[in-house]
Amino acid sequence: MTASPAPVRITAISGSIRNGSHCTAVLRSLDPLLPAQVKMEIFPLNDIPLYNADLEGDALPESVARMKASIAEADGLVLCSPEYNYGIPGVLKNAIDWASRPGFASPLKGKPVLVMTASPGTAGGVRAQAQIREALMATLARPLVRQHIAIPGVAAKLQEGRLADAPTLQVIQEGLDDFLREIRWLRNAHS
Ligand code: FNR
Repeated sequence: MTASPAPVRITAISGSIRNGSHCTAVLRSLDPLLPAQVKMEIFPLNDIPLYNADLEGDALPESVARMKASIAEADGLVLCSPEYNYGIPGVLKNAIDWASRPGFASPLKGKPVLVMTASPGTAGGVRAQAQIREALMATLARPLVRQHIAIPGVAAKLQEGRLADAPTLQVIQEGLDDFLREIRWLRNAHS
């Protein structure tokens, strides 16, 4: 009898901490697109303090320790972020900075990341997406090299806090399929 493959764990992080966030709504829409053995946790950034190396003593701030543990235990990360002033929102950059320590040996090192951006505007946050990918590369994470997922006009594509636009869900489904293939490929390479 062959053993069933270990479950895949995904940590999802929204680049927006507001209650009505479109990006968090996109992340809430992913569960039905994932196979049953894939478990996804949305980790909110609301309690993450501003990065300060003075706080990186023996005991990290509790919220930061929880975020780093969630990333460390995950097989991969899914990010969905808005764009602020043509760039990466401060809360997300701040979280990446915390998670990136110790430099080049952090929980982000080697971690596959599916990056998505969303905007009520027409560009879908592509400029933020470029900056997010750049920051992830600095941490030695593995932002997926594939067609980018940028969701323009996101406000009109949500219903009751979930994505309800079939073409967008299809694009995301293909991204998730590539992401899970990458996770399994990395598992095989390391087994
Ligand atoms: C924005 N917004 C925005 N949108 C965009 O497409 N490009 C941009 O450069 C900006 N800049 C920007 C700056 C600031 C300070 C705010 C508050 C907003 C609009 C932004 O995409 C919109 O508010 C989203 O709804 C934010 O994402 P959530 O919170 O809905 O996930």
